Amino acid sequence: MGFRVVVLVSGSGTLLQSLIDAQSDPEFAAEIVAVGADRSQIAGLERAERAGLPTFVHPLAKGADRAAWDTELRDLVAGYDPDLVVLAGFMKLVGPAFLERFGGRLINSHPALLPSFPGMHGARDALDYGVKITGASVFLVDEGVDSGVILAQTAVEVAEDDTEESLHERIKIGERRLLVDVVGKLATRSWQVEGRRVRWGR
Ligand code: GAR
Repeated sequence: MGFRVVVLVSGSGTLLQSLIDAQSDPEFAAEIVAVGADRSQIAGLERAERAGLPTFVHPLAKGADRAAWDTELRDLVAGYDPDLVVLAGFMKLVGPAFLERFGGRLINSHPALLPSFPGMHGARDALDYGVKITGASVFLVDEGVDSGVILAQTAVEVAEDDTEESLHERIKIGERRLLVDVVGKLATRSWQVEGRRVRWGR
């Protein structure tokens, strides 16, 4: 049995693409079994379809019952029996039902060095603050906003003439590699969390 991964996306899906590409490496032990999104007609879903992966779309309508949306998302994902769920540019917060089911095997990737600059605009907030080094973080999702245990980080220098776009694009280069590394590691190694620290076994 492979290590089954469901990926959730909201946008261009370049992180997803790096995981799809990793699957052509026989050393990469994880298998993407489905890709879900909270909106249709995004490049992320097209990437999944091109790769022949099953997809599903579960939008959260304005004013809709958020708890019901969360429970339905949980059930859609659970239908693929994943060992790991990856939020790869998924721009919705998952709720308690989802977390109860997948907590501890649910990861997210963020374009800043957490705990700095959590939220929707990690790259922009770091640039506006004036930091000289930022990066990307892959972490275990908990009930907070980008507050879970950090599994891995990579650093990126901020250039004086960076714009939000140029900085975010550079962060994403390292972020794609980081996410592939972490997913590969989770598929093959044991690990445990002590406090806020993760310890990798064999
Ligand atoms: C990534 O930089 C990811 O960290 C960020 O969205 C981008 C998705 O890129 N996610 C967040 O900011 C979540 N709060 P992609 O659609 O090209 O994979």
